[in-house]
Amino acid sequence: MTIKELLRNKRLGHEWSEDSIRSFVDGLTTKKVSSAQAGAFLMAACIHGLTPRETATLTQAMASSGITVPTNGLERPCIDKHSTGGVGDKVSLLLAPLAVACGLAVPMISGRGLGHTGGTIDKLESIPGFNTSLSVQRMRELLEQHHVFMAAQTDECAPADGILYALRDVTGTVEDVGLITASILSKKISEGISGLVMDIKSGEGAFFPNLDDGRTLGTSIRTVAGHAGIQSAIVYSDMSIPLGRAVGNWLEVVESEQALREFASCDHRLRAVTIHCVAEMVLMGGLTNSIEEARTRVVDKWLDGSGYREFLGMIERQGGVLVDGHVRQESACSQSITSPVSMVMPCLPAREVAIAVMEAGGGRLVDGDVIDNTAGCVIVADPGMPVESGQVLMHVSAATTERCSALAEALESIIERAKARGIHEPPDVIIDVDR
Ligand code: URA
Repeated sequence: MTIKELLRNKRLGHEWSEDSIRSFVDGLTTKKVSSAQAGAFLMAACIHGLTPRETATLTQAMASSGITVPTNGLERPCIDKHSTGGVGDKVSLLLAPLAVACGLAVPMISGRGLGHTGGTIDKLESIPGFNTSLSVQRMRELLEQHHVFMAAQTDECAPADGILYALRDVTGTVEDVGLITASILSKKISEGISGLVMDIKSGEGAFFPNLDDGRTLGTSIRTVAGHAGIQSAIVYSDMSIPLGRAVGNWLEVVESEQALREFASCDHRLRAVTIHCVAEMVLMGGLTNSIEEARTRVVDKWLDGSGYREFLGMIERQGGVLVDGHVRQESACSQSITSPVSMVMPCLPAREVAIAVMEAGGGRLVDGDVIDNTAGCVIVADPGMPVESGQVLMHVSAATTERCSALAEALESIIERAKARGIHEPPDVIIDVDR
């Protein structure tokens, strides 16, 4: 069948054969399938859904579009974590160094911003000099010598995901269980890992706000990971409000550095998700006999500064510039939002905050948009905190004064609406664990 016939067939909701899926993925990387055709496939896949068989085949075909990082013979268990995407979700930046400090190897191939959510790669690339584009040979060297790398998928690793991911980001075709499963697991299979902890978000800032839909995704990921010989555990966590205090690439890197340096300064919800996910990785890697023991080990490595040292070492090895031993401060225009009245700080809806930051230049609106890494906000007043009139609620920043003022204005009206909603108590951040 020609690609045109295949697409027509998909538009009508028919299941594709394994050969059709493989030749479609092959056509993506050899450019025989155009971006328009790939976009048509994505839209049809979102409308009709993919069957479990299509999902499993698509995952394998996308993983086989590149090569796998050779992790044989490494002295440590190779375990990774991935999230379904969130707002202010900088867990990976804290988690990878902490997991290494605990005794694991972490080969992490991550994504860029997708839809309204931020991506680990965009955050890392906001560090001047940081190189996320590594050859497979360099990935292996870093794993052998330092037990960690954090990189983007490349022409060598899951290139088909690179193509589909960028198109999904700008065509409104992110929220589909099959596409998300194939995107995540094609990258994870390419890493050569033996175990994966999935952080599946629910709440209004997540791709699947409803927990039941999140659980459907969890089942899909566990099934396909199992076929690929990867052990998995799922942490279900809340994404109704931004995770941590900062939203925006550069501000999130700064928050991560500060949090790793000073355990007590870390936002308690960010800390809870990080500790939970690293502990699941440690348990999965067989480094402890119980989850309680694993949690104790993670907290010890955080408190004794070894996670922080691993973080700085990883940045330097991948070319990131440290100034006086810290991530360098990006210059930007900034302003503060103060409270016009005395009140209790409400919970801010994650998705609305993310969209405001994206529109201020912090995310891509069309394929190839250059991101303003300085665009973002830091929420100074925690939800539920009583604030006086004139007290600072948030710091806002962006590359130009106009964008900074526009972002501040958008955030002020989000705060006003949140005040009217009157929710001051965020839900528990850890909802469930399935191991
Ligand atoms: N992370 C990914 O890598 N892909 C998705 O589709 C969603 C989150």
